[in-house]
Amino acid sequence: MDAAIAAAIAAEEGWLPFDRFMALALYAPGLGYYARDARQFGQMPSSGSDFVTAPELSPLFGHTLARQVAQALQATGTREVWEFGAGSGALARQLLASLDAATTGDEQGRRECGAVEYRIVELSAALRQRQQRTLAAFGARVRWLDALPGRIEGVVVGNEVLDAMPVQLLHFDGTRWFERGVALQDGRLAWADRPTALRPPGEHRFLPGAVTEIHRQAEAFVRTLAARLARGAAFFIDYGFPEHEYYHPQRHGGTLMCHRAHRADTDPLADVGTKDITAHVNFSAVALAAQDAGLHVLGYTSQARFLVNCGLPALLAAADARAQVAAQPLLQEHEMGELFKVLGLAAGAPFEAIGFAGGDRSHTL
Ligand SMILES: C[S@@+](CC[C@H](N)C(=O)[O-])C[C@H]1O[C@@H](n2cnc3c(N)ncnc32)[C@H](O)[C@@H]1O
Repeated sequence: MDAAIAAAIAAEEGWLPFDRFMALALYAPGLGYYARDARQFGQMPSSGSDFVTAPELSPLFGHTLARQVAQALQATGTREVWEFGAGSGALARQLLASLDAATTGDEQGRRECGAVEYRIVELSAALRQRQQRTLAAFGARVRWLDALPGRIEGVVVGNEVLDAMPVQLLHFDGTRWFERGVALQDGRLAWADRPTALRPPGEHRFLPGAVTEIHRQAEAFVRTLAARLARGAAFFIDYGFPEHEYYHPQRHGGTLMCHRAHRADTDPLADVGTKDITAHVNFSAVALAAQDAGLHVLGYTSQARFLVNCGLPALLAAADARAQVAAQPLLQEHEMGELFKVLGLAAGAPFEAIGFAGGDRSHTL
């Protein structure tokens, strides 16, 4: 167990709320999973990777999303793409390549038509370096920011970013609610509960022993983004559910999950810093926070529906057999097609986003 975690627990008089623990385990310099210079993203354990994300699976993911981004740039009259949590830089490379191809070929053409500028906000210094290597060919058009500027005009994208934001854990014993935190027991990390006034949002039935999450950081992130996004749109892609599914009695163990070497486990207290920790996204809470902060919900649907609406079938038809096979999990229900959702938001006048043209499920949020 790491000294930084022990020190944090001691500084909090023996009990660290889980969201603080998760923030350290993922992002603390020298300890956090995302602070390490490692290959988190990749297709197979043999590459040393721990999990695969959509842009790592197939470049057709970014090429399809680019159609939505292009439409949103046009509809909102903006010229910047903002990516949060850009991972290896694969999605940025796919989006830039597609957007450039759409505006037209040569450098002069791009200057005349106005090539998009790309901004990346990334918490991990190690990943930022990796992104800089991946995106070197795009030169000064790609810039990294340490903090959000006061005003953003552009189209925001975030793939699997909300799930990486620390969550608070709640435990219901049948009559009372507790916040679950981390303490030291015989020199080892152990769960420890404290009575709390915190509750999951809404009115849902919880069985005795239920453990679940609340997502204050993700909601705060969306509120901050809404306050800064003066003109534009945002598209968040992640695994998650609307609130009534999230807090369904069947999901009584919650959604907290760790990933290492393409295997999932449910023990974030073991091997801290060597594995990813995530929780599913409560898309109702994210959409509500966005609306309360002045954004419009453009749509909400499954990843499969969104990609089909944006024209993935035509891109697949033009691809070779190997690329077609690689892209299948993006659409398959038992892979990313149904568990992953897309939420679209707009600052300023809402528009008919192509990704939600069919199968919009905003009414379920
Ligand atoms: C699961 S990875 C996804 C990476 C990439 N988007 C992909 O799809 O391959 C999560 C990423 O989100 C970043 N991240 C988490 N919270 C963030 C925040 N508040 N702002 C910016 N990046 C964040 C992490 O550093 C990491 O790059």
